[in-house]
Parts: sequence; C-alpha cells; structure tokens
Amino acid sequence: MPKKDPRKQKLYETAEQLKSRKHNDNKNSFRMVITGKGGVGKTTFTSVLAKLLARKDFNVLAVDEDPQINLPYSLGLPQDMEITPSSRNVDYIEEKTGARPGEVWGAMLRLNPDVSDVVARFGIKVDDNIDLIVMGSVMQAAAGCLCPENALLDSIVKFIALREGEVILMDTQAGVEHFGRALAKGFKQTVIITEPTFNAYQVAKHSAVLSRQLGIPYVHLVVNKVKNSEQYEKFKKVAGDSLEDFNEIFVLPYDENILETEPDITPLLDKDVSYINAMKKLVNTLVDYGMRS
Ligand SMILES: Nc1ncnc2c1ncn2[C@@H]1O[C@H](COP(=O)(O)OP(=O)(O)OP(=O)(O)O)[C@@H](O)[C@H]1O
Ligand SMILES: [Mg+2]
Repeated sequence: MPKKDPRKQKLYETAEQLKSRKHNDNKNSFRMVITGKGGVGKTTFTSVLAKLLARKDFNVLAVDEDPQINLPYSLGLPQDMEITPSSRNVDYIEEKTGARPGEVWGAMLRLNPDVSDVVARFGIKVDDNIDLIVMGSVMQAAAGCLCPENALLDSIVKFIALREGEVILMDTQAGVEHFGRALAKGFKQTVIITEPTFNAYQVAKHSAVLSRQLGIPYVHLVVNKVKNSEQYEKFKKVAGDSLEDFNEIFVLPYDENILETEPDITPLLDKDVSYINAMKKLVNTLVDYGMRS
C-alpha cells in the first residue's frame, strides 16, 4: 500500500470505501444523463445538482464524459489536480480490451470486458456522498470506430447503467446516441440543457428525439441563462409546439455569480443567488421522476 504519496493514499482509501459500498438500495437509486450543445451549462448544472442531492443524503456518482474534463473542477477539486480519464489510461485499456490504443487492426479486441473495478480503481472522492469518474470522451476518429478506447467506454457505460444504491449523473456532450442501448438499460431521465437560442435548441430537439428512440422514458428540457421574461417568451415562440415533447421544462436564470467563481460552483451553494435558488426548486421534481418505477 503506497503510504508516502498522500494523493495515492487517498485514492487507495477511496477505493476501499467504494468496494464496501452497498449497491442494493433501490430506494435511493436513479440515473440521469445530462446533455446539450457545447457551452450551454451542462457541467454547471450537473455539479450543482450533485451537491444538492448529496445534501439530501443521496450517494452520488458523477460521471464526466466531457472531452475538456471540467466536472472535477466545477465540483471544487483543486485545479492543479491531474486526472487521466479511464478511457485514456493505456494500461487499463490494454488490460481490459486486450489491445493498446492504435493497435486494433492487428489485435483481437475484447468488446465486453468486465469493468466492474472501474469505480474502485479510478473513482475520485469529492465529498462524503459524492464520487466522480472521469471516463474520457468518445473517439470520433472514424464512424463506428472499433478502437479499444470506445470498446472500454461502452463497457463502462453498460456497467454504470446497472449500478444500484446511488444517483448517477452523467455529463456528456457526445449526446445519447453514442452510448446506445447501454444508456437506455439503466438511465431513466435525460436532462437536455439549452440556451434560449435557436441554435442550441436545434441540438436539444435532436437529443430529445434520440432519447425517446432509445427508450429513455423521461426527457426534460432546461432553458438556461435566461435573462428576463421577454427573452423566455421569445424562446417559447421559436420553439413552438415542440416544447410539448418534454416531460418537464425548467427555466434557470442567467447569473453573473456563476462567472465570478467559475469553474468552481461550491462557493455559491450557500449563497442567496438566483441560479442556486432555482436549482433548489427543481431538485425534488427530478427526484420524483427518478423514483418512478
Ligand atoms: N445560468 C448561468 N448564468 C451565467 N453563466 C452560466 C450559467 N450557466 C453556465 N454558465 C457559464 O457558461 C459557461 C459554460 O458552462 P458549462 O461549462 O457548465 O457548460 P457546458 O455545457 O458543460 O460546456 P461544454 O460543452 O464546454 O462542456 C461557463 O463559463 C459557466 O460558468
Ligand atoms: Mg461541460
């Protein structure tokens, strides 16, 4: 056991704690994917939601698929903390898939490796009730590319979709389509974030259609960065009848306070600021949907 390096020591302790965590408590377990166009506010939303759920005594596993790896820092981890996504960990990829990245054409690739150790080995403890997995993003090199990284990522999502006893929040820009059936198996809600603009909403509508096609039962829209009611009314006109396709529509205000502390949202949690107040109102609705059978 590595005793000298405090960070390794902490990771080791986290791994031991995670191994002993019980995964059979269905009451407090649901899974949600958060998606939307680049820059609309997915990571901010995911991290505030993770913190608010943790305060309600849920065990939260936050999953970062963002190519930029923003979620750890948004959750308040030190900005100089180096993090290698599990799907970029060359040794782990080889151990699980039998091939190193770039080697695929010559190697036999295991497509469904057992990755049940991924959280224990790579989980990062954020708080007592929050763990984080940084998955890494889908490789876009070739359409449907059978590279070891994607095979691993696919297995991680499949594994995560089956975990019990915790709320799983997956922050992804890739959209639901990349994870296919694996997501639909365990994920009950998609929260699609949009800004009140035509372009962002086109992406949101597309994600909503794909979520439904996959079989994710509840699809919500969050209209983020809304500056005033005129702007929201204009957005509603642009969106028209398509808004009826969402189970819930939430509106979150544009809030300068977020920009002051970004990327870290933790200093805002106990402040009386409009974004946090609005988030506190929507948490219970998302929990209610999560608890539906
Ligand atoms: N309601 C808001 N009011 C003001 N600024 C916001 C709001 N929500 C998010 N932001 C800011 O917008 C920027 C993008 O937010 P965030 O990183 O959460 O988006 P994202 O969708 O995760 O982006 P990416 O696609 O790059 O991962 C950040 O600077 C964030 O602080
Ligand atoms: Mg992000």
